[in-house]
Amino acid sequence: MISPSANPSAGAVAGGAQPLVDLRGITKRYGAVTALDNIDFGIWPGEVVGLLGDNGAGKSTLIKIMSGIVQPTAGKIYSRGREVRLRSRRDSYELGIETIYQDIALVDQMNIMRNIFLGREMTDRMGFLRMKQMRQTAMKVLEHTVGISGITSADQVVKGLSGGQKQAVALARAVYFKNRIFLLDEPTSALSVRETEKTLEYILQLKGEGVSSVLVTHNIYHGYQVADRFVVLRLGRKILEVRKEDTSIEELTRIIVEN
Ligand SMILES: Nc1ncnc2c1ncn2[C@@H]1O[C@H](COP(=O)(O)OP(=O)(O)O)[C@@H](O)[C@H]1O
Ligand SMILES: [Mg+2]
Repeated sequence: MISPSANPSAGAVAGGAQPLVDLRGITKRYGAVTALDNIDFGIWPGEVVGLLGDNGAGKSTLIKIMSGIVQPTAGKIYSRGREVRLRSRRDSYELGIETIYQDIALVDQMNIMRNIFLGREMTDRMGFLRMKQMRQTAMKVLEHTVGISGITSADQVVKGLSGGQKQAVALARAVYFKNRIFLLDEPTSALSVRETEKTLEYILQLKGEGVSSVLVTHNIYHGYQVADRFVVLRLGRKILEVRKEDTSIEELTRIIVEN
């Protein structure tokens, strides 16, 4: 059992429950570069964590470690108090984690529908793909949840989409495969104002359903709109962990910019 007292701010937010995922002493080195240096990071049920920091802070590396696609050099990962190893995206999904990556592109040559269901296709009992059902589901998710403009068919090849439209497809995939923890790495960087608002609203809606999120963003205003607490990284180190009510946009901005 991992004591929540090691992280009193977060424990208090969620009423002292056990973290869903708890990273302890996570270090990641790439040759001479230390992308993450001895990081403790927990996610409690039903909370939104704003993960902030300048370029190169280690935010994406932390997301990738929680998502199972990057292995830490040192440190341990616990899920509900039990040590786990995340060796693949499937491992993290089984723990309840769904991820939208900053820099892992969709498969450009495939259409929207295939991208949304990639690796998790709908099949019938014989193993045949349920194309019609996947196509309809893809469009429904794109229209209703993400509210993206300019996508008229789930058969459109991803290659021809704008950056914002690609982000919307990635978001649609995460929305459809909704899980207990939602990791979003700069999901709104290419979205319009309206699409961004929809995404932030969706994070809050999920929170209402008990789904926790970690939102990586450069835009502190976006983070402030939805997060219950903030973790600020700088050059691989955690320099601040604070509840929303104990900080302000001004303070967060100053800490990220000044340090
Ligand atoms: N695959 C990799 N190989 C080598 N260095 C990497 C790799 N991924 C990240 N880094 C380095 O780790 C540091 C943190 O990167 P990253 O996690 O992408 O930061 P952020 O998302 O906060 O901008 C940077 O110095 C980056 O250059
Ligand atoms: Mg990044």
